[in-house]
Amino acid sequence: MSDLTTRIGDLTMSTPVMLASGAVGYGTEYEGVIDLAAVGAIVTKTITVEPREGNAPPRLVETPGGLLNAIGLENVGLDRFLDEKLPEAARLQAPVVASVAGTEPEQFGRLAAAVGARGEVSAIELNISCPNVERPRNPVWADPRAVEETVSVARAATTKTLLVKLSPNTSDILSVAEAAERAGADALTVANTLPGMRIDIGRLKPALGNVTGGLSGRALLPVNLALVWRVAGHVSIPVVGSGGVSDAGDALEFLAAGAVAVQVGTALFANPEAPSEIVEGLREYMRENGVGSLEQLVGAAREETKV
Ligand SMILES: Cc1cc2nc3c(=O)[nH]c(=O)nc-3n(C[C@H](O)[C@H](O)[C@H](O)COP(=O)(O)O)c2cc1C
Repeated sequence: MSDLTTRIGDLTMSTPVMLASGAVGYGTEYEGVIDLAAVGAIVTKTITVEPREGNAPPRLVETPGGLLNAIGLENVGLDRFLDEKLPEAARLQAPVVASVAGTEPEQFGRLAAAVGARGEVSAIELNISCPNVERPRNPVWADPRAVEETVSVARAATTKTLLVKLSPNTSDILSVAEAAERAGADALTVANTLPGMRIDIGRLKPALGNVTGGLSGRALLPVNLALVWRVAGHVSIPVVGSGGVSDAGDALEFLAAGAVAVQVGTALFANPEAPSEIVEGLREYMRENGVGSLEQLVGAAREETKV
């Protein structure tokens, strides 16, 4: 059978298919629904130091080829995550990557130290793409200096493998990627959702309670794929692709562009079998094309010598 093993820092995954943060809660909610044997790692819902109730409803609205969400980082907070959610997640078949977000570097440090100290956590993903009320016009995710400071503080707080999840909503993602790498990130997740909105024409009001939300799903794929291509060509740490991955062909595109793994989010809502189908499809592709290991596929579109 083709070898789908892939590595990010100290995290070894049996497949390159990760479950994206926010798609499966804290993991256990989807036990028995998603075949976790096909999943390389589960990224849990982003947690913050304090619990958050999230935004006013409606929080989800469909759009052609995609979904807009404005959940507002609803989560149980650090203490309940450590006391209740992590011990439950430990029984899952796939490694757990804990996603954390703060409004300032110190909070990222505190969160990284706390979740990093736990044996159930195989890696940490810093969600630096969350809105920061203090900086509405110059968000952290678009400011390389702020990203460097944030990642440095988290890096100093833990030795666990650290992924940094970038936002596509910046004109200069390469400087942000460089800053995260310089600060000690082990990998970059490229990328989160793009801002968007719809108007409910029945009410002539914004369709989302929060007015704007994040665009995910198939419509996002070409945007984030181009970012993966650029970032993977620029940094020397691994890149994980996120945005609209729904089938094996989509995953193959991200891998060929230079990603070592992909995250699946929105596709799970319509098709919880997406991870196992993607894994099966990748295996079939590798078998048919005589590709023995995933490594041979990573960046295959970048060099003529590969595959
Ligand atoms: C309902 C929903 C909730 C999400 N919550 C989070 C979150 O808490 N933290 C995070 O980093 N990303 C969150 N995301 C973004 C996803 O992890 C993913 O990066 C993005 O949706 C693009 O991938 P997709 O098109 O496969 O969904 C969320 C996405 C959706 C649709």
